[in-house]
Amino acid sequence: AVPMRGGPSTLTFPELRHQLAQTDAVAEGHESRLLIRWGDPVLPDAPAFDPRRQTAAAQARQFGYNNDYIAVLPMRPGAPITDRALLWANHEYTNTNLMFPGMGSPGEARARVTAQQVEIELMAHGGSIVEIEREGRSWKLAPPGRLNRRITAATPMRISGPAAGHPWMRTSADPEGRLVLGTLANCAGGLTPWGTILTCEENINFAFGGALNDAAQAESQRRFGMVDNPPYGWHRHVPRFNRSLDPNESNRFGWVVEVDPYDPQSVPVKRTALGRFKHEGAAHAMAPDGRMVIYMGDDQRFDYVYRFVTARPHDPASPDRNLLDDGTLSVARFDADGTMRWLPLVQGTGPLTPANGFHNQGDVVIQARRAADLLGATPMDRPEDVEANPVNGRVYVMLTNNANRTAEQVNPANPRAANTHGHVVELIPPGAPSQPDHAAETMRWGLFLRAGKPGVDPGTEYHRATSDQGWLSCPDNCAFDSKGRIWIATDGAGSTAGIADGVWVADTTGAGRALTRLFYQAPTGAEVCGPWILPDDSALFLAIQHPGQNSGSNFETPSTRWPDFAEGMPPRPSVIVITHAGGAAIGS
Ligand code: FEO
Ligand code: CA
Ligand code: CA
Ligand code: CA
Repeated sequence: AVPMRGGPSTLTFPELRHQLAQTDAVAEGHESRLLIRWGDPVLPDAPAFDPRRQTAAAQARQFGYNNDYIAVLPMRPGAPITDRALLWANHEYTNTNLMFPGMGSPGEARARVTAQQVEIELMAHGGSIVEIEREGRSWKLAPPGRLNRRITAATPMRISGPAAGHPWMRTSADPEGRLVLGTLANCAGGLTPWGTILTCEENINFAFGGALNDAAQAESQRRFGMVDNPPYGWHRHVPRFNRSLDPNESNRFGWVVEVDPYDPQSVPVKRTALGRFKHEGAAHAMAPDGRMVIYMGDDQRFDYVYRFVTARPHDPASPDRNLLDDGTLSVARFDADGTMRWLPLVQGTGPLTPANGFHNQGDVVIQARRAADLLGATPMDRPEDVEANPVNGRVYVMLTNNANRTAEQVNPANPRAANTHGHVVELIPPGAPSQPDHAAETMRWGLFLRAGKPGVDPGTEYHRATSDQGWLSCPDNCAFDSKGRIWIATDGAGSTAGIADGVWVADTTGAGRALTRLFYQAPTGAEVCGPWILPDDSALFLAIQHPGQNSGSNFETPSTRWPDFAEGMPPRPSVIVITHAGGAAIGS
């Protein structure tokens, strides 16, 4: 049957058909364009990309690996986007066996990786800022501009907030505990009203290894997932990543990092008041009284949804650049009666006392997970993006999956055992949709959709008109267009459902609510990150991460050579931009 043109959905594009292919696909009537790839120049003196002769010095000047969060910003804070803009991209992690020749499988690559390759990998992490410019209806990479910058795993960064100077934050290289080299595992992110970027450190435990000879920290580090032999081999080559040499360095990662894209000399700041866990993103909304509210997921099976509310309102006339250092971190509890309650993580209240190891707020934020355990937060199915819909005032929680949940462990907000495909929870703050109280102590909640294939996977829930192509698996990132429709990007559908990861889009209100429709499909092995929509809905930017990350795939014999398809060139994580061929809004 020909897929429906839209049914009750306000989205009228012809749906794609599920596939798993070497290249990507976008709905008919749209154009996709490559914007920037791993290895493309970021700084003016970047050498030409040659993956067989890569060096750390070259990589530090080129676009990094595994682009995740992206944002498109005006050339000046608060200005409208015209014919030129800044693109920020996170570089989350490295696929050693796809980046370098002769590495074999991922496991073999971990054993084989050399000190020189680790240096290259460190330079491939962090973030990039590049100028882009309009060309026709679409966008292209501009020649390196004044604001172009690479942030890496070695860029000096200031530590601020309650954990700054804490004894567990001090190292031999930084006895004050206030300056750290680099950011790691930057997954999703967010923006601030004053024009800075929030980039979020997620699976930082992969970087640290070796025996921990500090019994006082054993439980804290175990709760974060630190092990002696992690998936990277870095601790064998870089002393600060070896826990037996430096037990505290890992405490200096797992934070939300603020970067000022308008000052290439600025020192990024780790904002510790927002807590330390496996941060997915940090999307913000404003409370009616002007306080800034940041929603955050901790992406681990059975971990939690968090929120930070600033102590003071944001003043647009005179922004306080340290607003994120004071405020209240809370964790979510979902109750069966449809109430969700934000439980504050404040030292000295409830169980967060010296008897439980919490002597100050620094102890609480460094061990936010352990504090949240004691408060009775609701264990979720891997919280990824948590984003407020600016049109209907509701908040959407992407829960990617949790195959480990047993029947005994289901709870109202995570109702499926062996949840292979994930679901989306909707939070409803009190107040009118035009002025929701994102700082309220309690909200209502409900399920938006339960992913998987209807009629095949147990417990799926979509709009009843959802087509054979419209079901999805493993929701991860999301964005909203100007009409409040949700654009959901997935991560993992290849392994859970045998279909390409992609972008599905649905109305959030009206007759087409939760009628997801398939708009874009990634090449095999890739997840789709970003998504970023321009305010006038004229372009959708996507970060295509880890193309070719399939079992049996490596530098010599990758499962795809997307996007170049050139002999000898491995797949390259890239940012693309999609526009409507007729100049209409995306999704038309
Ligand atoms: Fe890096 Fe939670 O995905
Ligand atoms: Ca990712
Ligand atoms: Ca993610
Ligand atoms: Ca993910």
